Amino acid sequence: MNEPTVVTAVPRAIQTNNLTRRFGTFTAVDAIDLSVDSGGIFGLLGPNGAGKTTTIKMLTTILKPTSGTAVIAGFDVAATPAQVRRTIGYVPQMLSADGALTAEENLVLSARLYGMKKRDWKERVSEALGFMSLSDVARKLVKTYSGGMIRRLELAQAMLHRPSVLFLDEPTIGLDPVARRMVWERLLAMKEKYGMTILITTHDMEEADRLCGGIAIMHHGRVAATGTPENLKASVGPGAGLHDVFVHYSGGSIEEGGNYRDVRKTRRTAHRLS
Ligand SMILES: Nc1ncnc2c1ncn2[C@@H]1O[C@H](COP(=O)(O)OP(=O)(O)O)[C@@H](O)[C@H]1O
Ligand SMILES: [Mg+2]
Repeated sequence: MNEPTVVTAVPRAIQTNNLTRRFGTFTAVDAIDLSVDSGGIFGLLGPNGAGKTTTIKMLTTILKPTSGTAVIAGFDVAATPAQVRRTIGYVPQMLSADGALTAEENLVLSARLYGMKKRDWKERVSEALGFMSLSDVARKLVKTYSGGMIRRLELAQAMLHRPSVLFLDEPTIGLDPVARRMVWERLLAMKEKYGMTILITTHDMEEADRLCGGIAIMHHGRVAATGTPENLKASVGPGAGLHDVFVHYSGGSIEEGGNYRDVRKTRRTAHRLS
C-alpha cells in the first residue's frame, strides 16, 4: 500500500484574486491576479499611471481594496492587516528617512515603531548599518547624504524586523548608475542572506532583467503579461529584449503614459534623491 503523500503547504508570498481599486468612477487597479512564490525578487513593471503604486499600497494595507482579495504570506490584507504589517517591510516611492536625524537615529526610531526590544534593536541597528555600508556615516545627519546612501538607509530601516516580504516602490529612481548598482547588489544580498521575498516596481528594464525572477507588466490597471523574463522575451519573438516585451505589452515606450500628476510625482522623487 502506498504511503499517503504529505504536502506541507508553504503559503505563497503574495496571492491576489481580482484585486481592484477605484477612485470615484476611475479604476486604477482592475481585477488583477498576482501569484508570487516565496524567496525571489518579483518585478511589477509598467508605464507611469499603470497602477503599480496603488497595487503596492493595497498589498501593504495602506489602501483598502474596493473589491477582490490579497493574501500576504497567508494573511489576508482586509481581514488581518496587523499581521500583514508585522510580516512585511515597505519602502515608499517618496522619501521616508528623516533628514534632520542621523542614520542611527532613524534606525532606532524604526526599531521602536516596530515594537522591538532594546536588546534586539541594538544589535540589529549596527548589523543593518554594516550590511548597507553606512557604519562610517551612522552619526551624520541624513540631509548630508547622497541619494544612494539615503536609499540604502531606507532599505536598512525596512529590514530591521526581518520581514518575510519586502515591498519597494521604484527603489532606484533618480540614482546615478553607481548608486543604482549598489542598491541592486544589496537587494540580491538581502534575498540571499535573509531569504526574503522582494517585490519591486520599476520602469527600468535593465533593473528588472538583473534582479527579477518573475515579472508582471501592468498597463491601464491590468496585468498585460506575466512570466519569467526569459518566457516573456520568447513570447514576443526571437532576439527580443525586455524593452521589446515592455513595448509589446504596454503599447508604447516606458517614458510615455500617465498624466501630469503621475509624471510630476515621479520626477519629484527623482529630484529629491539626486
Ligand atoms: N488618490 C488618488 N485619487 C485619484 N486618482 C488616483 C489616486 N492615486 C492614484 N490615482 C490614479 O490612478 C492611476 C494609477 O496610479 P499609480 O498607482 O500611482 O500608478 P503608477 O505607480 O503605476 O505610476 C493614475 O492614473 C493615478 O492618477
Ligand atoms: Mg508609482
